[in-house]
Amino acid sequence: MIKRHLITTALPYANGPIHIGHLAGVYIPADIYCRYLRAKGEEVLFIGGSDEHGVPITITARKENTTPQAIVDRYHEMIQKSFEQLGIIFDIYSRTTKPVHHETASEIFTNLYKTGKLIEKTSEQYFDEVASEFLADRYITGTCPHCENNSAYGDQCEACGSSLNATDLINPKSVLSGNVPIMKETKHWYLPLEQYEDWLKKWILEGHKEDWKTNVYGQCKSWIEQGLHPRAVTRDLSWGVKVPLADAEGKVLYVWFDAPIGYISATKEWCEQNGQNYERWWKDEETRLLHFIGKDNIVFHCIIFPVMLKAEGSYILPENVPANEFLNLENNKISTSRNWAVWLHEYLEEFKDKQDVLRYTLTTIAPETKDSDFTWADFQAKNNNELLAIFGNFVNRTVVLIHKYYEGVIPEIGEFTDEEKELIAKIAGFPSVIGTSVEKYRFREALAEFMNLARLGNKYLTDTEPWKVVKTDPKRVKTILHLSIQICANLSVLGEPFLPFTSAKLRKILNIDILYWSDSGRVDLLKAGHKINAPEYLFEKIENAVIEAQVRKLVK
Ligand code: 2FM
Ligand code: ZN
Repeated sequence: MIKRHLITTALPYANGPIHIGHLAGVYIPADIYCRYLRAKGEEVLFIGGSDEHGVPITITARKENTTPQAIVDRYHEMIQKSFEQLGIIFDIYSRTTKPVHHETASEIFTNLYKTGKLIEKTSEQYFDEVASEFLADRYITGTCPHCENNSAYGDQCEACGSSLNATDLINPKSVLSGNVPIMKETKHWYLPLEQYEDWLKKWILEGHKEDWKTNVYGQCKSWIEQGLHPRAVTRDLSWGVKVPLADAEGKVLYVWFDAPIGYISATKEWCEQNGQNYERWWKDEETRLLHFIGKDNIVFHCIIFPVMLKAEGSYILPENVPANEFLNLENNKISTSRNWAVWLHEYLEEFKDKQDVLRYTLTTIAPETKDSDFTWADFQAKNNNELLAIFGNFVNRTVVLIHKYYEGVIPEIGEFTDEEKELIAKIAGFPSVIGTSVEKYRFREALAEFMNLARLGNKYLTDTEPWKVVKTDPKRVKTILHLSIQICANLSVLGEPFLPFTSAKLRKILNIDILYWSDSGRVDLLKAGHKINAPEYLFEKIENAVIEAQVRKLVK
């Protein structure tokens, strides 16, 4: 039986815009994967949404003298719009401030609490006497005990990537008042991760050694082997999902407890709108659950969230977590605070109708196995020397010649030469070669294969020179252009997951509807006598001045 696929993408904090690092690491690969499955006719539910809780959002609100709700409203809308404009089409793009999410997260917490799966513990935590608040996570800064970075946060050091507890910080300071905090007792609920160590060893270390990516497996192994500890799942904060217990005034669920539950709430919301039961997606072994995330989210999606689900007992677990490494920009770490980033909403404004150029470039350099680097010069080269010079040029030459010789009507086919028979056999192999790479989450490899098909078409035209042969053997030219336009049709199908805008443009030129993946690989997709539309360029040259302006904008 064919399974259904539940594909989730990390819910970005609605605290700032999306940049190319997010796209290359998470959203473009996930979108390619979903489009591919859909082209194969499979049942897919593609989930996205905003993570609207957590301390950074309240800090931004304080800085801007507004409410956390105003901040998340602003960025939720902006992020949702820019994803859509880039062709990342979720079935639902929800938000963790919605009532359905608060209900779902409370219900899961309550279930865990009632069945004795949580530990209640009172401990001393940092408290700001001036602001009269406990200092959770990013409300406290200090020196990292590992790398001496003096602006590490209470939950993490961004300089060395270590995950921290507030009490690990040297010289802690309150972000609220700048004062040195005191220690004060407070009660919280903990998820006893250590009780699941044996189960995690079996499930991940034995069960997923072969199929999870090495970077993901390696990080899990190192976490599990270092020994797991109880993890607090509540915080003393006012912004978030209220802890649904009588004696928990002023406490909310930890953002990393509620955020992944957002995948479940979004599914519920979609199911309500579409007359389905969400349990079909979350409580049925016939569902394949996949989480697309960045490497900083691995522990939460591979260890903590699965432990929550396992402890609750009625949910399925992820089959795979294809996490990527990080993308750098012009050889430096992307930094939102230093504005060292290429922001998606700005790109969409400045590069109108060039969504696929960004999708293409970011897929060719996706940080699948190690960190990778985006440069504007590479972006320009990928557009001018690959998309335009190979793919665009091949399609354009074919379409222009069919119009020139046959007024846009696809000519009859004649005898194939031995070389053409070989070419046809090669074309037949592409759908499975590209598909296999996609199924292994090797999107770079898949896209490179797709370009090889365009390259093959381009070379075929260059080798056969129909513009010369037409003078001596017009019948032969019919065969050449018939076969060339079949390659174009194949490119429109096989390119759709990667370059959806170009694929749609190409379908319009070819005057065809969208085809299934299973149609591709053949050379009878278009019949002789079918009329195609006028030629249009698929890609435009990007000039040096445009690229120079982007580089200048970065260093400003
Ligand atoms: O790292 C982040 O941006 C988080 N907001 C990701 C959350 S993923 C999921 F748990 F919602
Ligand atoms: Zn550090």
